[in-house]
Parts: sequence; structure tokens; C-alpha cells
Amino acid sequence: MSKQRLRFFEKSVGQRHITDADKYLYKAPESTYKLVIIGTGTIGQEHMYVATLLGRASIHGIYDSQKESMDVAEHNFSNYSDQSLMRYSDLVSACNDPEADALMICTPNHTHFEILNVAMQSGKPIFLEKPMATDLSDADAIVKANDNYASFIQIGLQYRYKAQYVEAFHEAQTRTSIGAIKTISMSEHRPPFLDKVGQWNKFNKNSGGTLVEKCCHYFDLINQMAGAMPVRVYASGGQAVNFLDFDKDGAPADIDDHAFVVIDYANGVRANFTLNMFCHDFTEDMIVCGDKGRLVTQEVFNIHQQQPSTATVALELGEWGASKQTDVTYAREIEQSGHHGATYYEHIAFVDQLDGKASQSATPVQGLWSMIVASAAQYSMKTEQAVDVKAFMHDNNLSKYLR
Ligand SMILES: NC(=O)c1ccc[n+]([C@@H]2O[C@H](COP(=O)([O-])OP(=O)(O)OC[C@H]3O[C@@H](n4cnc5c(N)ncnc54)[C@H](O)[C@@H]3O)[C@@H](O)[C@H]2O)c1
Repeated sequence: MSKQRLRFFEKSVGQRHITDADKYLYKAPESTYKLVIIGTGTIGQEHMYVATLLGRASIHGIYDSQKESMDVAEHNFSNYSDQSLMRYSDLVSACNDPEADALMICTPNHTHFEILNVAMQSGKPIFLEKPMATDLSDADAIVKANDNYASFIQIGLQYRYKAQYVEAFHEAQTRTSIGAIKTISMSEHRPPFLDKVGQWNKFNKNSGGTLVEKCCHYFDLINQMAGAMPVRVYASGGQAVNFLDFDKDGAPADIDDHAFVVIDYANGVRANFTLNMFCHDFTEDMIVCGDKGRLVTQEVFNIHQQQPSTATVALELGEWGASKQTDVTYAREIEQSGHHGATYYEHIAFVDQLDGKASQSATPVQGLWSMIVASAAQYSMKTEQAVDVKAFMHDNNLSKYLR
């Protein structure tokens, strides 16, 4: 067990007179591993910051195909770290630096498969951002490659580390407070997809589609909560408001901005998911009903008032037992470090895996299942029919994963 850290005091101006020789509570742990970040855009920089905040691994080097991204990442890094960074000029040298212990792939979705293939030649542990790929055949190939890989691949489905879901899983699955789970409702209301390098996320061919790109997180959570195989998916959605006048080199944006998805699971659990991407602020809700109670989680992030996020969990048991409503927001330094603290706990899981310890982090096969639901939902939206998951998997050469 590592000692307590009090980052509030560690970072406060009034504590700067404490010299390195006297630092105990304010001292970062010795970092054990050196990381290379491939793709230093929005999430690559978040990983650089979070790894440094955690301190168990250091950022050794960076590589990005756009010079501006490397320049900005290096500049921002210098605001919180005095370490120097290796800057690689190509992917192969970034992946094969003998000094580096692990690679984090943080490039756009359509580049994951190709970059992962190069990265795997190094034999190093790999963190691969979500979604693992843009289509099911590449995702299947990644699962197969991982099965024969001597090291490990962790997928960046870190929403499972958001405070409200950690608590909800504990209530529903460890304490079984709400009895047998019967229904799961999730929703995300948020602003449009942000600007990106090359605007890759405005096109389905680069992102895999909105439900793959964004909602793989939620389908991963719903799959874990349902605890069974999805058998039927029905979805309706489209592009109502966002990027209707957007084009790049004459190609119009084709991404959906809202959807309703219904999923039936083999154990009788029924789930639904709602997405709306033309709201002004971020709200995420999950309501799980069992035969003994109801669990309600909410995360609110009001960017316009520039308030920190809040995460709450309510347990409603009626006459079955004690009900409660709890604020579960992570400690402020951690909450503000990225994705309301989820990325911080994802890094703990990654470094634990580097230490050879078991972790609850997302595996490639879980990444694939999140994509199966997302892809079936997108197919349902296109065909306006319910999708039988078994038949869908058969058509996509995925029958071997049926269980
Ligand atoms: N886990 C999460 O919550 C989360 C959040 C945001 C983004 N993501 C994922 O992270 C990835 C990157 O998203 P982002 O928001 O940082 O995008 P971004 O556009 O901000 O950054 C991507 C970076 O990758 C670089 N890049 C593009 N092609 C490259 C290549 N072939 N080799 C090296 N560098 C290349 C770009 O120049 C850019 O700097 C995507 O897969 C996205 O889905 C995950």
C-alpha cells in the first residue's frame, strides 16, 4: 500500500518552501515505467498529464504525425513536469525505443489497427484507445492477435472507472442490493463532437460511426451490468442538428447526433440507451432496476458555468431495506485530471498490469463486444429492422464468440 498523498498541499503556493529533502506527504512515488505516447492530441495529452499526476510511470517520449500536436504537447507538459521528452520522427522508432516499457496508442480510430500492428512488433505492453477499431473484422483480428501476444493490450474503455459506475457495480453486483437485475436505462446528453485534427470524427469511415466511436463506452457498461450475451438490438436515430453545413474537401459530415437503442440480453435483462449530442452541457444517467430496488446514477458536467462535475448514486429499496443518496465525486485534483477521474483510475489499472497484478481494465474481447452492440445498433438504424445478434455475428464471421 502506498502512503497517502495530499496533492492539495503539495501543489499549493504556500507550501513551496518545503524542499525536496523534507518532502514526505508531498513526494511523488518513484516512477517504475517509461511510457511512449503515440498521438499527442486531446486524449494523448490527457494521458501524459494523468500518468504524471499518478507518478508510477513517467512519460519518456512522444510521436505524432502532426508537428503542431507534438509542439503543443511538449509545451503543455513543461508546465507540470521538468522531465525532458524524446521526440521520435517515425512510428517504428517510437515503438522500438529500448528505454521504453510500454506504448499508449492515442491516434484516431481509423489508424488504430495499422498502428497496433507496428506496435505489436515491439512485444511491449500496449494501451489502445477506444474504440479498438472502426469495423468488426479489424476488431476480431485484434482479439486474435492479442490471444497470441506474450504481453497484453488494454483498451481505453475507462468509463467503468467513473465514480458513479464503480459504486453502482458494487451495489448491483457485489452487494446485490437491488436483487436480480431486470432493466438498465442509460443516457448521454452532451454537446457536439469537438474539433479534431483533420476533423476525423465528422466521418463514419474514420470513426466507425457515432455509436461505435462515442457509445462503445456505454455499451461496454451495459454489457457488464447485464452480465449476459446481447441477443437482439433495435435502434433508431440520425443526424438532426449537428454539422449539417459541414464539409471537408467537398465531403459532407455524415455522423449521427442522436439515437435510441434497445438491447435484449440472453438472461432476460432489457436495456435501452439514449444519445443526444446537441445539448449545451454534459449529463450521463444510468438507472438499473432489480426485483428489489432501483439504482440511479447521474453525472453532471456544466461547462458553461465552469463548475467541476458531480457524480451521484441513489439506492431506492422501499421496504426492502435502507435507501440512500450519495455524492461520489472523486477528489478534486483527480476529478479535474480528465474524464472526471476515470482516466486516473484507468492508469492505476494499466500500471498494475505492468506490475503483473490483475486489474478490472477492459480487455480486447470486451472491446469487441462493445463494438458488436454498437455496430448492430448502427445496422438496425440503417435497415430500420431489429437485429438478431446471433445472425449478425454469423454474417460478420464472429460466431466463435457466441456463448
Ligand atoms: N477514452 C476516452 O474517453 C477518449 C476520449 C477522447 C478520445 N478518445 C480516443 O482517442 C483517440 C484520439 O482522439 P483525440 O480526441 O485525442 O483526437 P485528436 O484529433 O485530438 O488527436 C489525435 C492525434 O493523433 C495524431 N495522428 C493522426 N494520425 C496519426 C498517425 N497515423 N500517427 C501518429 N499520429 C497520428 C493527430 O495528429 C492528432 O494529434 C481516438 O481513438 C478517440 O476515440 C478516447
